[in-house]
Amino acid sequence: MTAGGGNLVLAGLRKDYGVGDPAVDRLDLEIAKGEFVALLGPSGCGKTTTLRMIAGLVEPSAGRILLDGDDLTAKPVHRRNIGMVFQNYALFPHMTVADNVAFGLEMRGVAATEIRDRVAEALALVRLTGFESRRPKALSGGQQQRVALARALVIRPDLLLLDEPLSNLDAKLREEMRGEIREIQKRLGITTVFVTHDQAEALALADRIAVMERGRLAQLGSPEEVYERPATPFVARFVGRINALAAAAGGDGRLRIGGQPVPTGDLRPAGTKATVMIRPQHITLSQPGISLLARVTGITYVGDVVQIAVAGDGFSVVAERGTADSSWRGLAVGQDVGVGWPASSALVFPENADGR
Ligand SMILES: Nc1ncnc2c1ncn2[C@@H]1O[C@H](COP(=O)(O)OP(=O)(O)OP(=O)(O)O)[C@@H](O)[C@H]1O
Ligand SMILES: [Mg+2]
Repeated sequence: MTAGGGNLVLAGLRKDYGVGDPAVDRLDLEIAKGEFVALLGPSGCGKTTTLRMIAGLVEPSAGRILLDGDDLTAKPVHRRNIGMVFQNYALFPHMTVADNVAFGLEMRGVAATEIRDRVAEALALVRLTGFESRRPKALSGGQQQRVALARALVIRPDLLLLDEPLSNLDAKLREEMRGEIREIQKRLGITTVFVTHDQAEALALADRIAVMERGRLAQLGSPEEVYERPATPFVARFVGRINALAAAAGGDGRLRIGGQPVPTGDLRPAGTKATVMIRPQHITLSQPGISLLARVTGITYVGDVVQIAVAGDGFSVVAERGTADSSWRGLAVGQDVGVGWPASSALVFPENADGR
């Protein structure tokens, strides 16, 4: 079961449903054959609309969709060789597992003996051999999920589209299925677009992440790029937790918070306002007198990490430590601390970088 083509190009894609702003606007995206791209963004940013336009279920208002150079835009759904898994699995309840998986092949007029072989192969791939004659309601959520995946894979698609396929599963099953999907996708080399609003899922799975904001592409990059070098404050906030501090440049050009200079590594014209953003794991806490003076306002133990909230004159931040690192154990609420961070870990954005 190996995929043929799979180079996907979205050019100037737009969907205007006719109410409010366009759901998707000026979307340009090129996905290489075999690549796994996560479409990540908040609810309503246009992820499902994008996926449904690629699948042929929603007609674009403008723009083009090319698969291996072939213009799909006007091609009907059944003539696109695309496998799709919907958020709610959408299995046929009255059909057995085997019939659910066989459906796409029957639609394509594949011979019965070949259907039997390919259904068996697809079910083996998702580790559901032996479940052929069950009905969906006699399966767990994770098993139904895998039937949906087998049904999408059995047609040997050039492109696999997954719309929040893990959203109904518990945390542990979700992590397992994540690994399975990634492994199957790699083994088959199928170009995959995976929709999620879970940043951890996108970071863990994707070769590249396309962060969407209000119908537009906010940033496209590797997990490391979008996490460590977010293009905008919106991306910085959406991809992982981050502290945001309002700063202004003093006469010497150094950014200051409440009059105190803070480490940022760059100089700005006096009076320039900026937002300084720092990931919680980069916040250092030391003896008062060093860096910014603050007081511990809360300590929250969340299992693998502990979050230490501190507040000073005109700012508050959250620091994060792994619970294996015992340095935080000496801290108490109400205690004075010095707050700092390495200048190289500070992301500096113009004051209105998110404004449109
Ligand atoms: N059939 C429709 N008619 C009108 N507006 C629609 C339609 N479908 C979606 N929209 C609107 O388009 C925007 C994008 O919706 P879409 O379903 O693509 O978002 P999403 O990113 O998938 O969100 P979620 O994470 O909640 O699934 C939303 O503002 C939504 O209200
Ligand atoms: Mg959606």
